[in-house]
Amino acid sequence: MPAPSELLDVATALASEAGRLIIDGRRAARVAHTKTSAVDVVTQMDLAAERLVRDRLAQLRPDDGILGEEGDDVVGTSGITWVVDPIDGTVNYLYGIPHFSVSVAAVSGPPEPARWTIEAGAVLDGSGVLWTAARGEGARRDGELLRHEDGPGLEGSLVATGFQYTAERRARQGRIVATILPQVRDIRRLGAASIDLCHVAAGLVDAYYEHGLHPWDFAAGALIATEAGVRVGALDGGAPDGRLLIAAVPATWDALRDALVEAGAGEI
Ligand code: IPD
Repeated sequence: MPAPSELLDVATALASEAGRLIIDGRRAARVAHTKTSAVDVVTQMDLAAERLVRDRLAQLRPDDGILGEEGDDVVGTSGITWVVDPIDGTVNYLYGIPHFSVSVAAVSGPPEPARWTIEAGAVLDGSGVLWTAARGEGARRDGELLRHEDGPGLEGSLVATGFQYTAERRARQGRIVATILPQVRDIRRLGAASIDLCHVAAGLVDAYYEHGLHPWDFAAGALIATEAGVRVGALDGGAPDGRLLIAAVPATWDALRDALVEAGAGEI
């Protein structure tokens, strides 16, 4: 099994190359098709960036699996799977809001979030900042070590969240956030889950939660947050599996989870 740092070198190279492609191609971005709803878009740059990552993995790590947002799953033989979001924050990207990323993670074990081990992750954001982590070796922003272990308590917390693309699901998420808002400092909805998690790692927000994330939305960011000292878990405290991911400093995590349960987050 390769060392996490070795996998991080590959994740960093892939995120940087794909990042350059999407940043350079931003002005030409066009919708290629839609997915779960008419506002859940895929641009031709999502497809081009994922193709680039898949081609490079075929050269660099031909025996590994791939779980990518815009393509078929590849089952590998090495025990490593790459979990790739070629553009996280696609709506921001389409509108020209520079808050999007390429997110690349390497996981070992079964490629299901509740059972995998995240070995390495790299998130290259639209302003060119590189967020990285290797398991057991800390998290970094442009090479600078990140720590975020203390917070102001739930009532003083700046909490990021996000919404899914289907109207019915959003209506329920809206009711939950309306219950949480009066209990915290404020809410942020910036539009890219991978960066939300990096922001918790850096203390740019105190906490983050979201329902219904896909593995590629959170794999790299979850490791970056965890390695910075943030607690990242599902509603039951176990590994996040996409139903509800909660990231907060350890002292605030239970209070946020309890507030979310009280708001009905366990029922959607
Ligand atoms: C989306 C973003 C958004 C989150 C959605 C994700 P995409 O990813 O991360 O912030 O709220 O749940 O699906 O579609 O831009 O790759």
